[in-house]
Amino acid sequence: MDKFLIRGGRPLRGRVEISGAKNSALPCLAATLLTAETVTLHNVPYVKDLITQRRLLEDLGATVLTPELRTHKVTAKNIETFEASYELVKTMRASVLALGPLLSRFGKAKVSLPGGCAIGTRPIDLHLKAFEKLGAVVSLESGDVMATAPKGRLQGADIHFDKVTVTGTENVIMAAVLAGGTTTIRNAAREPEIEDLAALLIKMGAKISGAGTDTIRIDGVDELNGAEHSIIPDRIETGTFIVAAAMTDGELEVAKCQPRHLEAVIEQLRKTGVNIENLDETTLKVTRDRAGLKSIDVTTEPHPLFPTDMQAQYMALMTQAEGTSIITETIFENRFMHASELIRLGADISISGNHATVRGASKLTGARIIASDLRASASLVLAGLAADGETTIDRVYHIDRGYETIVRKFRSLGADIERASDQLTDESV
Ligand code: UD1
Repeated sequence: MDKFLIRGGRPLRGRVEISGAKNSALPCLAATLLTAETVTLHNVPYVKDLITQRRLLEDLGATVLTPELRTHKVTAKNIETFEASYELVKTMRASVLALGPLLSRFGKAKVSLPGGCAIGTRPIDLHLKAFEKLGAVVSLESGDVMATAPKGRLQGADIHFDKVTVTGTENVIMAAVLAGGTTTIRNAAREPEIEDLAALLIKMGAKISGAGTDTIRIDGVDELNGAEHSIIPDRIETGTFIVAAAMTDGELEVAKCQPRHLEAVIEQLRKTGVNIENLDETTLKVTRDRAGLKSIDVTTEPHPLFPTDMQAQYMALMTQAEGTSIITETIFENRFMHASELIRLGADISISGNHATVRGASKLTGARIIASDLRASASLVLAGLAADGETTIDRVYHIDRGYETIVRKFRSLGADIERASDQLTDESV
């Protein structure tokens, strides 16, 4: 299994370009199932989850060409099966995004139920209830979800989500675009990735308004056409590099990003003493304030507030801030697994329920630690870069799911980080 070896303590300097958003590319690839025509997606990040999503499309019978590494041309003309296998769903929960489009276009879909995962139980009950409201018959058989549209086509409906769900909102949008009549989604997720998916679907001929707000209206159409679309920059990767600059007391230009997609993160980091300057619309310059970092509490919330996917990186930052901060996680249970590893590096953190209390600033010293999930891995890399001595991070396959060429990017900024692997390839670094 691959590991990272990091010799920390070097300030990061230079310019880093942000890749396409994993969480946008995943639903956009699923959306290609909605038409028999070719959909071309650019700026698809080269990360493991997208390779898995591509495999899912191919298993269903779609043709996926990649004329360039980050361009996917998908033609879902001859769909042969309507089932996302357990093999795929167990490695990537976002495989459930196949349900909406398959049900919408073919009136049937089968997806294995995602099991519990490292960041707590992650049910899809809200997706399924919404499909039922659209007229689908949903049943559970030996761990699989079967959904069918008895009249061949779903019917538009009023859907109110009890809880904000990102992939749930995306799945329902994709289910509704080919349904008869109008669907209204209330308490919809407002993440930029939802807007990006809607932008693609509108190019494909869908009638959607309100994406990015909590009420989305979809007027079903009879069929969709091919389209070409470029995926938005990854706001979580952007936030991760901003924290990296601050934690190592470096100076970074974070380029090809979309600052308006992470306003809450930028605002929060500025309060802690991270200087973030807008050089132009897509480039940020980041340094640490001369006065040092201050501890400030934070609570994770659905967009546009502070994202759960930045919580672990923020915790790593707070270990280097003067004072005590309380980090409250409201989206996922059991999402503090990085805390015990940060403690191994010398951090002072205690956990009580969904609150983490971080007392800083701690001197971090290299140690052997284990990555537990995608964002936790990122926080451990950040801590390793700031720690004195050598840090070894095991099980870094988690980070490959969502961060493109992370070792190469950090090395280009002056970090001393390498991957220890049996199969070292150009792209895996
Ligand atoms: C997406 C993101 C993930 C991010 C999360 C929250 C993708 C591929 N993944 O995950 O990176 O951390 O949003 O911003 O975009 N819930 C239910 N029932 C459901 C669905 C969700 O109870 O049917 C609960 C979840 O357990 C969780 C909360 O709702 O407590 C939010 O989850 P959700 O927004 O659905 O997360 P994902 O879409 O899985």
